[in-house]
This record gives sequence, C-alpha cells and structure tokens, in this order.
Amino acid sequence: MPGDLIYLDNAATTYPKPRPVLDRMIDIYGRQGVSPGRGSYDLAVEAEELAGAARSKLARFFKCPDPDRVIFAGNATDALNLVIQGLIRPGDHVVSTRLEHNSVLRPLYHLRQQGRIDYDLASFDGQGFIDPAEIGRLIRADTRMVIVNHASNVLGTVQPVAEIGRVCADRGVPLIIDAAQSAGVIPIDMSAWQVGAVAFTGHKSLFGPSGIGGLAVSPELEIQITRFGGTGIDSHSLTHTPTFPHRLEAGTLNLLGVIGLSLGLDFLEAEGIEVIHRREMELLARLRDGLAGLPGIRLYGVEDLSRHVGLMMVNVEGIDPEDVGAILDADFDIAVRVGLHCAPLVHESLGTAPRGGVRFSLGPFNRVEEIDRTIAAMRLIAESGKRSGKPR
Ligand code: ALA
Repeated sequence: MPGDLIYLDNAATTYPKPRPVLDRMIDIYGRQGVSPGRGSYDLAVEAEELAGAARSKLARFFKCPDPDRVIFAGNATDALNLVIQGLIRPGDHVVSTRLEHNSVLRPLYHLRQQGRIDYDLASFDGQGFIDPAEIGRLIRADTRMVIVNHASNVLGTVQPVAEIGRVCADRGVPLIIDAAQSAGVIPIDMSAWQVGAVAFTGHKSLFGPSGIGGLAVSPELEIQITRFGGTGIDSHSLTHTPTFPHRLEAGTLNLLGVIGLSLGLDFLEAEGIEVIHRREMELLARLRDGLAGLPGIRLYGVEDLSRHVGLMMVNVEGIDPEDVGAILDADFDIAVRVGLHCAPLVHESLGTAPRGGVRFSLGPFNRVEEIDRTIAAMRLIAESGKRSGKPR
C-alpha cells in the first residue's frame, strides 16, 4: 500500500491485488500469451487449455453444471448486457429491483425507451432487503426474466436469492443474479438456487485484474446471440458459432485477464471465502459500532449484519458527502467512494438523492488499526459538521 493510505474502496475494485496473483499472471502470460483457440501449434493449444481450465474452475465455483456454459466478458456490466439483450423479445416484461446498479437499470430503461419492453422494480425494506413475495407479485404472464442484485453495492445487504429462485422457478421465469459484489465473499450455488445466469466481475472479490468478468449460464437457459464475430471455429460459416461458450464470445479473449482471474480463484481457495468474509465482517462491525457512537452520523442498512457483505454507507450531518470524501482523502489519506455509487434508485428510496452518501468498503487486507483510524477521522469530521451547524 503506498504510504499510509487506508484503502476502503474495495467495492469499486479490490486493492491491492495479491502479489502472487500479479506476478504469476505476468509470468504465465509472458510464456503462453498467444491467441487461444486460433491455432494448432503447441502454444495456441496451451493458451486454449488455460482458458478451459479457468472455465472449469469458475463452473465449480458457481456450481454451474457445464464449464462450457461459463463465458467470458469484460465485467459484470458487460455480462448483464449480454444476458438482458439476449433474453428479451419485443413486448416482454422484466422484474427487477430498486437496489440495482446502472448496469441493469440503464439497459432496461434504454429498452423501455425504445418501446421494446416494460419492467417493474421491487422495493426494499428499511434495512435494504427485498421480499421474495413481492417479486412473485410482480411476475406476469409475459415476464421474461427476473434480475436481482445479490449484494447491494450501496448498502451491502445480501438478498435471499435461494427463496427468490424458488418463487421464479414456480412461475417458470429465469432468475438472473448480479453477483458483482457477492462473488468471492458469499458462496454461490446456481444449481441449488435455481438461478438461470450469474453475472460476475473478476476485479472485485475474485482478485483478478479489471477488464475480465463473465456469465455462468444454466443449461436450461437459451440466450440469443447479440454479438457476432470470429470464434476460431466454423470460420467458413457467416453464421456466428451457435454452441457455448463461443455463442456469447466474439473476438480474441482477454487471456491476461482470464489467467489473473484463475489465479485469483486459487488465492480465494487457499484463503477460504468464509475466512475472508468473516474477517471483513468483524472489521465492518467494529466500524459500524465506532461510527454509531459518534454525534451527527447517520448509518444505513447495518442493523442486521448477518446477511451482509463488508461495506456500509453513512452521512455526516452538515457536510456534503463529497466534502467528507475529500477531507478523508486530503487530511487522513483514506480512500472511499462518495455520491450515488451508480445506483440512483437506492438513494431515491433512502432519501439520500441527489448527493448520496459516503461508502466504506472493506477488503481482506484491511486491518483493525485502519478501522480505528477511520473512526477517529470521522469523529473529527462529524464534530466540525456539528460546529458549522449547516443542515445537510
Ligand atoms: N460498481 C462499483 C462500485 O460500486 C464500481 O463502486
């Protein structure tokens, strides 16, 4: 970590990445970094094997029955676009939630503006949880899919996706989950939960680099092709390869990213998801308790930490969240994300729009003393807000 920086923006991207992941990634790419699936020479075959091994690891990780149904994309947003655009047909209806990130809200809004779909969004309760029964009430005969944010990037709350999966399965509607914030901290079982597709990104709690993510797709879910191009096979045909994984991949893979993601999964396996999650939650509880005792600080969605990932949002009375972030950065060397966190409807529902809040998001490398320094910094900031007497 450079200098004395306290990095509490792990929900945006985990930082730093584990050194062995970075070093081995460069080493393997340096030796085998040719275009996978595009040649019959040894190196090209080895590169394809690297990609295949990563698919198998990810399939085991998400309990996806078929490794070929793990496809690579640029990140969770890219993967969500693939599944949304690939499932909808004109006149369809979609059910989602007010907890979603713009990675879901914007594609849905765009499609509705074009007159191609309609959608309804489930609300969340005061603590940030979706009621599976509300999802059931919103499903209609023409609902094509339900999309749910597994762990909120604003509140950190983890949704009951197993129950939501049962509701969706009873109604014959595929459930898509956005696992951007949960993959790597909450074990995901897409088979047991009856999930149609899991969209994930590699650069958060899977410890890969940015620019790699993907989709794990159930064997029951057909997704139309919305991107066309070279796949390295069927080159004589002007029709895009219809079989998975090439069906949803076009152009040369981000092999460096795939290698890094695969090594990130090895790191996770060695450390243990449960161990990492428990450690982050202990730190979050300490932060919550420390901040809860300060005057003029409002906390959101942290009463029940039993279904939570290691992030939380707060506001300081009398100070704009952007200013709190700037003071934390300039005076205390603490990195956080402020504002709306690309999830505007969460803030609309909480009453924190348009200025949003200050988000602290923890990672496996944070330490107790960093949390204590953050609480001390927030105490000073909160006291200065009180003195200024400005309403927020
Ligand atoms: N979605 C990421 C975040 O919440 C970038 O910060």
